[in-house]
Amino acid sequence: MKTEVAIIGGGPSGLLLSQLLNKAGVATVVLERASRDHVLSRIRAGVLEAGTVQMLHEAGVADRMDKEGLRHEGCYLSDDDLMVRINFKELTGTTVMVYGQTEVTSDLYHAQDAIGATIIHCIEDVVIHDADSDAPYVEYTVDGARRRLDCAYVAGCDGFHGVSRKTIPTDKRREFERVYPFGWLGVLSRTRPAHEELIYANSSNGFALASMRSETLSRYYVQVPLTDTVEEWSDERFWTTLKSCLPSEVAATMQTGQSIEKSIAPLRSFVSEPLRWGRLFLVGDAAHIVPPTGAKGLNLAVSDVHYLYQALIDAVKKGDTAGIDTYSERALLRIWKAMRFSWQMTTMLHQFDGEDSFAAQMRKSTLQHLSQSETARRDLAENYIGLPY
Ligand code: FAD
Ligand code: PHB
Repeated sequence: MKTEVAIIGGGPSGLLLSQLLNKAGVATVVLERASRDHVLSRIRAGVLEAGTVQMLHEAGVADRMDKEGLRHEGCYLSDDDLMVRINFKELTGTTVMVYGQTEVTSDLYHAQDAIGATIIHCIEDVVIHDADSDAPYVEYTVDGARRRLDCAYVAGCDGFHGVSRKTIPTDKRREFERVYPFGWLGVLSRTRPAHEELIYANSSNGFALASMRSETLSRYYVQVPLTDTVEEWSDERFWTTLKSCLPSEVAATMQTGQSIEKSIAPLRSFVSEPLRWGRLFLVGDAAHIVPPTGAKGLNLAVSDVHYLYQALIDAVKKGDTAGIDTYSERALLRIWKAMRFSWQMTTMLHQFDGEDSFAAQMRKSTLQHLSQSETARRDLAENYIGLPY
């Protein structure tokens, strides 16, 4: 088989890139390891920056989001019973959209089907060959048969555990990493959200986040030690812990119920530089991971696509390589700013094992300052709604 851009990974970044390239007449083949059902069953991100919303419009996949997504004009940060509202609309003039990653992915699959794009699921053993030459190709196994896909460019959109990043020789790239000593236990439940806006809660019992997917579907997280397993967390234990972290007026009125999904995600900050090796480009989680506290992971994957897709169109259609030559540099500038914000939010809101009493005072004092300083709130809002591309 032959195509212009081989895309490894059919998560949000791979599908969005494929959609934008196809719309511009650039041929793609998406190679996805999992089944479509599996990809759509992974509950992950929930908050879309204004720039992400704009990109989904550009890709022609925004109709359902515009109807069903929840536009949020602000969120809360809390410290025990102190609730600090960050008014995005007033401080930055814009809003964010609460719309699940699974919905974004599902909309992209439908749009790709409608334009007849090629997505091959359940493939195994992907190997990217000759990425540093003018004639790269990808080999993979599907239905027990080994196949070859020749292409002009390869987009590595295969997430943190994919093969794309590892294809780049270790002496050609540099990794930066911080692993946090805790994870997030996430629960989805068919209950009314605890509050009409998200609450990021610092408390003497640890961090919690009250989020949502719709008016009848809630998404909650609590901070847990990395050694904990989902089996150790009954629904009852989860609700008790969550309530002990949220402001008491919210905890008192919140609806609880049976969980319909429960999972633990470790928290990590990670960047691999550069994002390009020859004709291979890394996009999204394949190149970088942020702790979810700033709601930046999916949004960064989309901003990488923003920087790459026009560059690939110019390279394929006009032989103009200026865009792909500067992709890594342009994308990394924004990635590092989101890394800083996510790290800052994580540090401001979580309890670290073995920390001294000073650390807890620093968190409290930061939240006090936020409650009193519009300048501090504006800085947070500007980062949360998404820095300009
Ligand atoms: P992925 O979604 O990881 O997709 C990669 C795809 O590649 C997968 O479908 C995988 O099956 C496939 N693949 C892997 N290996 C191979 C291979 N060898 N061959 C072929 N295919 C392969 N982000 C936000 O912006 N806001 C949030 O609110 C937010 N909340 C989050 C909450 C949680 C609990 C978690 C875990 C993450 C959250 N994120 C959030 C992060 C966000 O989900 C990710 O950043 C996003 O999924 C990245 O998209 P991606 O397409 O780059 O990678
Ligand atoms: C979510 O709803 O899953 C979510 C929201 C905000 C975050 C992280 C996750 O910062």
